[in-house]
Amino acid sequence: MKRTHHCAQLTSTHLNAIVFLAGWVDSVRDHGGIIFVDLRDREGVTQIKFDANCRAEAALLKAESVIGITGKVELRPAAMMNKNIPTGEIEIDASALEVHNISDTPPFPLDDAGGDKVNEDLRLTYRYLDLRRPKMRKNLQVRHRAAKSVRDYFDAQGFYEIETPALFKSTPEGAREYLVPSRIHAGQFYALSQSPQQFKQILMVAGVEKYFQIARCFRDEDLRADRQMEFTQIDVEVSFIDREGIYSLFEGMLKNVWKDVLGQDLPTPFPRLAYKDAMNRYGVDKPDTRFGFELVDFSDTFKSSGFKVFASTVAAGGSVKAFNAKGLANITQGEMGALEEIAKSLGAKGLAFIKVEGGEWKSPIVKFFSEEEKAELTKRLGLEDGDLVFFAAAPWERACAILGRTRLEAAQLLVKRGKMTIRPDQWNFLWVVDFPLMSYDEERGAFAATHHPFTSPVPEDVALLDSDPKAVRGQHYDCVLNGMELGGGSIRIHQPALQKKVFEDVLKIPADVVATRFGYMLKAFTYGAPPHGGMAFGLDRMVALLCGTTSIRDVIAFPKTQKAQDLMTQSPTPVTEKQLKELHIKIVEEAK
Ligand code: AMO
Ligand code: AMP
Repeated sequence: MKRTHHCAQLTSTHLNAIVFLAGWVDSVRDHGGIIFVDLRDREGVTQIKFDANCRAEAALLKAESVIGITGKVELRPAAMMNKNIPTGEIEIDASALEVHNISDTPPFPLDDAGGDKVNEDLRLTYRYLDLRRPKMRKNLQVRHRAAKSVRDYFDAQGFYEIETPALFKSTPEGAREYLVPSRIHAGQFYALSQSPQQFKQILMVAGVEKYFQIARCFRDEDLRADRQMEFTQIDVEVSFIDREGIYSLFEGMLKNVWKDVLGQDLPTPFPRLAYKDAMNRYGVDKPDTRFGFELVDFSDTFKSSGFKVFASTVAAGGSVKAFNAKGLANITQGEMGALEEIAKSLGAKGLAFIKVEGGEWKSPIVKFFSEEEKAELTKRLGLEDGDLVFFAAAPWERACAILGRTRLEAAQLLVKRGKMTIRPDQWNFLWVVDFPLMSYDEERGAFAATHHPFTSPVPEDVALLDSDPKAVRGQHYDCVLNGMELGGGSIRIHQPALQKKVFEDVLKIPADVVATRFGYMLKAFTYGAPPHGGMAFGLDRMVALLCGTTSIRDVIAFPKTQKAQDLMTQSPTPVTEKQLKELHIKIVEEAK
């Protein structure tokens, strides 16, 4: 059983060696008496020739069967050499064949191209076959390398990796939690940890100083391409550090990972963008800066416009924003309709536009525009023939969100037309900084933390907590790469009195709730809490971008579907009455 080589190893330097290889049958070809098998293992493929020995057995092999072979390394005839693979010069003349298992016919082709065409549900049902595809195997390898690079880096920086409980208590931090019923304590529940946030802060009180963990987190969220219900964070907390210290620590980590995984040198420091500027220029707090189409504010231009939709929006305190989707004037009716639908789903009343074609402005609204307004648009948007302008008139945040999304969709339409390239390996890292500490939650009628309630205000702004909470900036930062939020964190509050004030006076969490949910933390802070801060990076998201994909399902061995199911093991499932009884749980049929 002991292999002498792997399947990507043998070259003409091994001629005449007697070798033993084992793996899966990638393909079988019968060339009139001579049978060729491409034998595949984790590393690659080697061609095996059965011309005299074991030919009859070899003829019975099917793709994906598991075999071992003994044979002699020979040079292929010149015409049969394959320069595209490392073993392309040689083949093995088999002298013995050992068949471990004959495979049934797989439900889909296991090459990269074939597998990419099949429905993802089928791939997830047969994940063990999907993971045999070279691309998926490579993704698993990249994930391993990235995680190792992260561990090596933090170890070299003097960090301890410390595990924290997955079974935590319910302390609403943001996302909905998964609850776990206690058998021993009837009617009581644990919550699966959304992140090790509170434990890592307690570790700072415990004097650990530098903590990291590659930590599994659980959130009962609606799933998307970049969201799973269980995902992995590179979680970090450090004592006696400021924002600058965090930026350089993580720039160092990313440099290390990009070097170890891709062999590339990332330029640092990364550019920084204030939250307000990110919103104003790109319409999102996680901008993709690989292309332009920046938003321009025209609120001033249209404040007394003849186009009442715009003028009344500005009068009501809202904004009129626009951007130039350069070269997209030939948008189709269907594409425009789809963009309008998306805009409406974000609360848009309409998605006004101007197409510049043949020197003419084609638009249902330009008849309302004055010459000055038109001149202003031309100048500030750099309008030329073939351009398409989109407008949003709405409260500032909504106008940003509508155009932010439209900007991304418009870019994709140009990519589809071959008129624009957005390279997945152009690494536009960015720190987004100066977030407001809180935003007003209309539903609750109170402020909510932008990041989480442990985030420290900027020291100069603490005095505004009572008088003007909206104006308080938080010491919160996000790391963004190519339109994806890779990580987020903050410098924390370490003074128990200030933390209590934020919970009770600013976020309006009732004192008794604060006591039961966070009492232990406030108590810990009364025994000498050092100033501290940290950050968590989404490992899945980082690895996805390293692998050139935007779906984190491609870099998780066993992910859930968008519908939160594991198709391979068929979970979730009902459980027995006995199990429920032990957990003191009764299932009540949902009212129709
Ligand atoms: P936050 O909630 O911003 O911060 O999460 C940090 C990072 O984790 C990743 N992430 C996810 N990845 C996949 N699926 C999900 N459902 C998901 N949710 C989050 C993102 C995100 O940037 N405790 C704080 C960090 C801190 O303050 O130190 C926290 O969890 O890449
Ligand atoms: P209306 O006068 O409502 O027919 O709108 C004229 C054009 O402006 C249509 O193309 C609408 O889609 C668009 N529109 C209406 N309201 C808004 C708005 N708030 N922001 C951007 N475009 C709008």
